[in-house]
Amino acid sequence: MKDANFLKENNARQVWHPMAHPADSLANPPDIIVGGEGVEITDVDGHRTVDGVGGLWNVNLGYSCAPVKEAIAAQLDRLPYYSIFRGTSNDAVIELGYMLAEFFAADGLSRAFFTSGGSDSVEIALRLARQYHKVRGEAGRVKYLSLKKGYHGTHTLGASVNGNANFRTMYEPLMAGCHHIPAPYTYRNPFDETDPARLAQLCLAALEDEIAFQGAGTIAAFIMEPVLGAGGVIPPHESFMPGVREICDRHGILLIADEVITAFGRTGDWTGSRHWGVQPDLMCTAKAITNGYFPFGAVMVSDKVAEVFEGDTSGKGAIGSGYTYSGHPVGAAAAIACLKETERLAVKDNAAARGAQLHAGLLALKDRHDLIGDVRGGHGLMCALELVADRATKAPVDKAVAAKVHRATYEAGAMVRISGPNIILSPPLILTEAHVDTILTGLDAGFRAAG
Ligand SMILES: Cc1ncc(COP(=O)(O)O)c(C=O)c1O
Repeated sequence: MKDANFLKENNARQVWHPMAHPADSLANPPDIIVGGEGVEITDVDGHRTVDGVGGLWNVNLGYSCAPVKEAIAAQLDRLPYYSIFRGTSNDAVIELGYMLAEFFAADGLSRAFFTSGGSDSVEIALRLARQYHKVRGEAGRVKYLSLKKGYHGTHTLGASVNGNANFRTMYEPLMAGCHHIPAPYTYRNPFDETDPARLAQLCLAALEDEIAFQGAGTIAAFIMEPVLGAGGVIPPHESFMPGVREICDRHGILLIADEVITAFGRTGDWTGSRHWGVQPDLMCTAKAITNGYFPFGAVMVSDKVAEVFEGDTSGKGAIGSGYTYSGHPVGAAAAIACLKETERLAVKDNAAARGAQLHAGLLALKDRHDLIGDVRGGHGLMCALELVADRATKAPVDKAVAAKVHRATYEAGAMVRISGPNIILSPPLILTEAHVDTILTGLDAGFRAAG
């Protein structure tokens, strides 16, 4: 490894960071992480912190998951790569497909299409949804509906269904035929409604209205995260996703659950869809499928959708999508080991218990710090604090103040993530009660320093 001076000096000179202004990265050098153990990370200066971010919502099993590391090493030795494009396959991907069909059986999902990550999974799911309708003879169903505040990666189709201007404006024009409805976000919404159940009904009514406006026969799919993540951890009321399912069914629209964050236990259930008692038609997964150790993803497909493709005799069911790294044997081997560990450790149960502890602790912080306008969570290990300059007007906090909270929290022992006005928490699912306390005391110190 190069020495600290070299790393600090060169980082932003040659590296452009995702979701950052290159000039800002030069002016405010990032923390350079050089080690990870358990749920802790160490930076180039030797400062160790609890990772409240869990890598990027993906290192669910922490940094020392030996079975996944060993599986990767063994697969690299035996067969480091072979494609699964038409005519070839590999043993690891076949075994993984079998395991995933069992894991997702309760969600009604039985087939897997493998990808290289979350944005790829979203892209594939959206494409398969259009193709499903074309194979069935409803070629006019090409549009997509989604939620404002939703995050679906940054490919152009994914960005088109995204619900945040930050990921859209500079890349417009985006894809035509993508329409958005208000998110069930009680803190800020166009209905000025703070009751979650009533807001869910209003958003569902907006969905009905948009479908009537567009014409149901023009819409391929509705895509949503069961709990909105990157948009600021927005858990909808329990009636929302079942309501969406019912509306989609009534109008022949496919429901795509984007579970890139929520699949594999983060909500306290094995999937976010299961958390709400819903079976989607397609599900996007990635991230925790390999514990973040290998770029990999899978789109899970329901029997209903699979039957249309597999029963097609016209040739239209041939899939014209795929990536060189779809079904990569090293990724598949990592995922097999990861799935076994995920189930063996029953991480969803710890996510539920530690998530409740974290959420309660954040609510207590709100009583002490006026900068906290809203606390969101209560569904496993995904929480957010929305910072405001003034609680009465809900004016967003100054960026410099948020940065100060972040810095002081880090110095006090917890890595957290600032995203717009939000502090987002998505720690590994294996963290202990003491780790949660460290995150909370770190944040308390962060707010004291900035307040
Ligand atoms: C819900 C959701 N979908 C898609 C993506 C994109 O995944 P990736 O960054 O692996 O492309 C993300 C990433 O955070 C996500 O949270």
